[in-house]
Amino acid sequence: MKDQEKKNAALEAVTYIKSGQVVGLGTGSTAYFAIQRVGELIKEGLTIKAIPTSEETKRLAMELSIPLIDINEVTTIDITIDGADEFTAGLQLIKGGGGALLREKIVASITKQQIIIADSSKKVEKLGAFKVPVEVIPFAATAVAHKLKSLNGAAILRTKNNTVYLTDQQNYILDVDFGLIDEPAALAKALDHITGVVEHGLFIDLASMVICGQGEKTET
Ligand code: 5RP
Repeated sequence: MKDQEKKNAALEAVTYIKSGQVVGLGTGSTAYFAIQRVGELIKEGLTIKAIPTSEETKRLAMELSIPLIDINEVTTIDITIDGADEFTAGLQLIKGGGGALLREKIVASITKQQIIIADSSKKVEKLGAFKVPVEVIPFAATAVAHKLKSLNGAAILRTKNNTVYLTDQQNYILDVDFGLIDEPAALAKALDHITGVVEHGLFIDLASMVICGQGEKTET
């Protein structure tokens, strides 16, 4: 059911894409369904230029013959479709479970219409049950983890296959438990000011809409 909800949300989101647009392609298992559909539409004649938010998405887009452009060729992106780990009714998000938060946030920051797609398990009253991913310069990992304690954050260094997880930019990720977050915008600002933090997974006021799979239907 979860996969069907993801797919339904993704298929609906893709209907917002128009020929001629520059399109940001998100990362993760929900974005996967959207990218697959974009690939089908390209074969049917849709003409877009896409910007992937991760190396993983870039590989998938290339397999599907989706035309790509370098993000440095544009200053705005018309529409981006991406997933989330948690979202609230106020459209605040936690992202970065898949490790792509830095490029995802850069893409979101220049996107005119940021569509978030999710299954119903991602909808929360308050953010924070999902640990906030914080991308850090490796040199600063311990120093940042220590500073996060003063914000009541318990940080765990992300690993994969028993080695430290490296992002597409060769940085580390600290997954940080802040408990339920009363003021996400204030926490985001505090994280922005820690030296050594490259970016974090609190996406504040970046989403234009969330399309959420809900059983057989979707909710926007
Ligand atoms: C990757 C992300 C993903 O969008 C997020 O983790 C959701 O992934 P999924 O759709 O697989 O649940 O932020 O950095």
